[in-house]
Amino acid sequence: MAFMKIYLLPLLVLFLGYYYSTDEEFRPEMLQGKKVIVTGASKGIGREMAYHLSKMGAHVVVTARSEEGLQKVVSRCLELGAASAHYIAGTMEDMAFAEQFVVKAGKLMGGLDMLIINHITSSHMSLFHGNVHNVRKVMEVNFLSYVVLSIAALPMLKQSNGSIAVVSSMAGKIALPMIASYSASKFALDGFFSTIRQEYLMTKVNVSITLCVLGLIDTETAMREVSGKINLQVAPKEDCALEIIKGAALRKEEVYYDASSWKPILLRNPGRKVMEFLLLRSYNLEKIVNN
Ligand SMILES: NC(=O)c1ccc[n+]([C@@H]2O[C@H](COP(=O)([O-])OP(=O)(O)OC[C@H]3O[C@@H](n4cnc5c(N)ncnc54)[C@H](OP(=O)(O)O)[C@@H]3O)[C@@H](O)[C@H]2O)c1
Ligand SMILES: *[C@@H]1O[C@H](CO)[C@@H](O)[C@H](O)[C@H]1NC(C)=O
Ligand SMILES: *[C@@H]1O[C@H](CO)[C@@H](O)[C@H](O)[C@H]1NC(C)=O
Repeated sequence: MAFMKIYLLPLLVLFLGYYYSTDEEFRPEMLQGKKVIVTGASKGIGREMAYHLSKMGAHVVVTARSEEGLQKVVSRCLELGAASAHYIAGTMEDMAFAEQFVVKAGKLMGGLDMLIINHITSSHMSLFHGNVHNVRKVMEVNFLSYVVLSIAALPMLKQSNGSIAVVSSMAGKIALPMIASYSASKFALDGFFSTIRQEYLMTKVNVSITLCVLGLIDTETAMREVSGKINLQVAPKEDCALEIIKGAALRKEEVYYDASSWKPILLRNPGRKVMEFLLLRSYNLEKIVNN
């Protein structure tokens, strides 16, 4: 107990201070000439991210199912100043496509600095009535394909000391009715990618992972889906897209973005961080890492 008092508390304070500190400042030049993939970029937040990246002079490869939508996005990206812009159309229901997409995108750009995973399968807000087929589809598109994409990108990201941005939601941190499958897939992203982040730290893999926890954003899809069901303040997709890019470029662990300022404060879970920090001390890291 004496030990706890002398060493652990100051250590914790330092740790939390570091965790919540805002260090480096973002500069758009950070993305200049960088090679970036954005998934789910035919509309919504993904499209806005592709536009911001283009203005910053990045190389972009975008994907989604709609070839027509992607064509338009790519021509706009070139107008906005992208170093290069390409699209590869396909569905993230198909894990072979997900894997090949990353390889092809890497070849098009000659490497990869940032992987922004953002797509989701469309799902309608309703009470859960036992449609297991739908749960499986949502888990595959919203979660499993994220895992596949990140595995395929890892060799290139290791070479560039690159970054992965995983787009999640408040529904990936707290429970809300009418989105059981969606919520499950977003919680899964947190469990998987937060674990991988710890492992990268332990094994000195210098690839950052940024989990983006978004509130309600004014994309067409979201507005159509919540209309008449939820009365919540909405935040603009353009600004949201920029915050995701900033967070990834600054190699932050998490980005919180919402129209309100109080929700992110409550969502950031210091209890969890403290427990992760303390429990990690019971692991024989040396042995695990050298195996
Ligand atoms: N908007 C919000 O209020 C909100 C809130 C919290 C979190 N988020 C998160 O933000 C991200 C973007 O949301 P958004 O509102 O911008 O969505 P969105 O406008 O509906 O865009 C979704 C994108 O995913 C693509 N997509 C859909 N099904 C696909 C499939 N099977 N394979 C590959 N691509 C597919 C869509 O293009 P195609 O249809 O052409 O394939 C589209 O480009 C998501 O991860 C979402 O969970 C959004
Ligand atoms: C990656 O980081 C390491 C360590 O800081 C550095 O030595 C190396 O040059 C970096 N590689 C690239 C491509 O930035
Ligand atoms: C990891 O990569 C980043 C970006 O290149 C670099 O700034 C940082 O020094 C690297 N960190 C380590 C521990 O190598």
